[in-house]
Amino acid sequence: MANKDHYFSHFPDVNLKVHTISESLRRHLYVFKTTTGTFSYKKIDLGTKVLIKHMRIPKKTNTLLDLGCGYGPIGIVLGYQSPQSEIYFIDINRRAIWATKENIKLNLPQSQDRLHVLTGDYFEPISSMKNTFDGIYMNPPMRRGKEEFINVCKKVPEYLKSDGFFQFVIRRKMGASSMYDILKDYFSPDTVQIICKRSGYWVFYLTIDKN
Ligand SMILES: C[S@@+](CC[C@H](N)C(=O)[O-])C[C@H]1O[C@@H](n2cnc3c(N)ncnc32)[C@H](O)[C@@H]1O
Repeated sequence: MANKDHYFSHFPDVNLKVHTISESLRRHLYVFKTTTGTFSYKKIDLGTKVLIKHMRIPKKTNTLLDLGCGYGPIGIVLGYQSPQSEIYFIDINRRAIWATKENIKLNLPQSQDRLHVLTGDYFEPISSMKNTFDGIYMNPPMRRGKEEFINVCKKVPEYLKSDGFFQFVIRRKMGASSMYDILKDYFSPDTVQIICKRSGYWVFYLTIDKN
């Protein structure tokens, strides 16, 4: 059970205060509502910014997932940059889910039909959607421990299409290098790429070979 005082709890136990952040990401200005008790609610996390700047975004219609969406910056940028794609957002924290819904209304008001916001534990809300996603994006909650993220990585292939990808960011000081070794060992070395190393963060691109 998650600690109720942390940003990754179901119901954060801190007073509710709403903040507003404006940020230009990939040459577009976004406004995000955030709340106390959600991850990096005062400013967009540097790792999130590095991932957003360097993530590869498919141009054609795709089904994409922002896993552990927080208040939604990664998925909302995907939704803006890939205007035909269906985007799913999942988080366990109900305040984060509330903020994501607000941020979709604020930033992509015409696109609400193709953006799906779900509450729950990682893949549990999409357990019936195996082999569905072209891409999964994530700034993982590494404070919950490396083992938890390794378990997420092991489940990712079940939800991706055969040519799907998983892009995520890890801080160098939070074990990016050892995660690289673990993933190369578990999958295969040529399926795990580092697409950039910036500001102390590594952006990973994992492809899945289902054959
Ligand atoms: C490092 S934060 C990133 C948030 C957001 N993507 C961003 O970049 O600002 C990780 C997110 O994962 C969520 N999370 C933690 N455990 C989870 C779980 N078991 N299932 C779904 N989301 C979870 C947290 O609530 C948090 O919002």
